[in-house]
Amino acid sequence: MTAALVCEGLAAGYAGAPVVRGIDLTVAEGEILALLGPNGAGKTTTLLTLAGLLDRRAGAVSVGGVPLKSGRPRQAVRRGMVLVPDDRALFTTLTTRENLRLAGRSKIKIDEVFDLFPALAGRSSVAAGVLSGGEQQMLAIGRALMQDPTVLLIDELSMGLAPVIVEALLPLIRRVADETRAAVVLVEQHVHLALETADRAVFLAHGEEVVNGDAADLLAHPDKTQAAYFG
Ligand SMILES: Nc1ncnc2c1ncn2[C@@H]1O[C@H](COP(=O)(O)OP(=O)(O)O)[C@@H](O)[C@H]1O
Ligand SMILES: [Mg+2]
Repeated sequence: MTAALVCEGLAAGYAGAPVVRGIDLTVAEGEILALLGPNGAGKTTTLLTLAGLLDRRAGAVSVGGVPLKSGRPRQAVRRGMVLVPDDRALFTTLTTRENLRLAGRSKIKIDEVFDLFPALAGRSSVAAGVLSGGEQQMLAIGRALMQDPTVLLIDELSMGLAPVIVEALLPLIRRVADETRAAVVLVEQHVHLALETADRAVFLAHGEEVVNGDAADLLAHPDKTQAAYFG
């Protein structure tokens, strides 16, 4: 397996305050890594730093073997590191198709997105703000796919969504990983659902990795992951 994303010894934070440290992540092409942990553990900070939106204080990040500079979001996108932010950041008054078109020039790509998310195809002329929560999340992911990601970072897939919608979205994430071969880093509040979908998982607590393992193994041994929440 080729590592699409390698992140070693990552440390980051906000003006004066260190938040995450010693984060090591390796994700192969087509693999889904769940990045889990309680609120405030540092998941979003980690993703923002990988995407170059926050400066690294330490560590190295590479995509497909190419090192990324710290704090260079446009370079990160050019190298294929694409973030779906937790607020989805859609243009709510523009239609589904217009949101996709703004993200890339190729009409073929829009059709590929509609192939991956057939539910969106029928909603192509509807304003993004009128879409259901699940459709909005599909559109946010679809927009990221317009950039041809090598690494797809998805923050809080389930933000504002009922668990039943999350359950329906997760197989689509698997399909995206299988068909586009993107390495996916998935932040998700529903630990059980995330572990059922992911290949591997890393749990953060207080900005540090506390558990790192095979998703099926962690699903079978919940005692191993409890340290992240109660440790
Ligand atoms: N813009 C910010 N400025 C200062 N501290 C922040 C900022 N955003 C998040 N933090 C702090 O960083 C820590 C990690 O937050 P975050 O990465 O958002 O966690 P998670 O996504 O796992 O819930 C928290 O203690 C949070 O209060
Ligand atoms: Mg977060």
